[in-house]
Amino acid sequence: MTKELDKIIRIMGQTHGRDISLYDDSFLVKSIDRRLADTGIRNIGNYSRALSENSTEAELFFRSLNIRYSEFFRNPLTFALLEQLILPGLAAKKEKSGRQEIRIWSAACAAGQEAYSIAILLDEMAAAGPSSVPFRIFATDISEKDLLTGRTGAFDSAAVQNVRMKYLRHYFTKNGETYTLVPALRNRVDFSAYDLLEETSSCPPISIFGDFDLVICSNLLFYYRPDVRHRILDKVYNSMSPGGYLVTGEAERDIVVRLEGLRAVAPFAAVFQKN
Ligand SMILES: C[S@@+](CC[C@H](N)C(=O)[O-])C[C@H]1O[C@@H](n2cnc3c(N)ncnc32)[C@H](O)[C@@H]1O
Repeated sequence: MTKELDKIIRIMGQTHGRDISLYDDSFLVKSIDRRLADTGIRNIGNYSRALSENSTEAELFFRSLNIRYSEFFRNPLTFALLEQLILPGLAAKKEKSGRQEIRIWSAACAAGQEAYSIAILLDEMAAAGPSSVPFRIFATDISEKDLLTGRTGAFDSAAVQNVRMKYLRHYFTKNGETYTLVPALRNRVDFSAYDLLEETSSCPPISIFGDFDLVICSNLLFYYRPDVRHRILDKVYNSMSPGGYLVTGEAERDIVVRLEGLRAVAPFAAVFQKN
């Protein structure tokens, strides 16, 4: 299998100019299995032949590697921790220190589902509390298509299935099966293109200086090879303020839990604090 996989990585690079060598082997194998099922091609040997002869299949395979699925309040445990502990703690810290705003980066944001979920929690907190701390959320991704959807703020019913009814009523307008965020909430999130693998900066240029109190980088690390995951984590770590928080996908918790400089905030959640 490894030999066949290496061959496919070579064909994609040399024949089609698509570098897939950064992806994790097991993810590539699963993706190839999905293409075998979809195309009816019998085995990986035949598939590598098809890839070398057929640039349409190569493009379909390449596109299948960019998993863009997301949803609002995707991980209930994480969002409960954010709502009950992390965000109120950050607001209290800001108020005490007199510093102006909570700075948040949603890295690999897809169409902004996570960024908007956090914006909803912060807006609710401000409405409920005695004073309100301003916040800025920077949402970045490599998919221009998703960034456009994010800016438009229109989502189908599957994406909002975890959104509480009172939030749906307050923050969205419904048209058929489409839920569109109200402009007041859309304006709280700044979308921009940013590749987490680029090596010349430690944070998205739109944020100017990073110094994030919270970075959410979830359901992306496990698609990449271990050394690439660590490159991404280094970048994210350097962009965080001292005492800042990092959130990953639950399935990615084990990748982060033993890293120096970060401590898990709770036994099961993928929420970490910079020492
Ligand atoms: C599965 S989605 C996860 C979205 C969201 N973070 C979540 O957990 O629901 C993965 C996202 O990572 C983005 N992505 C993949 N590689 C990236 C990179 N090198 N830099 C920035 N975004 C990337 C994809 O475009 C996609 O939107």
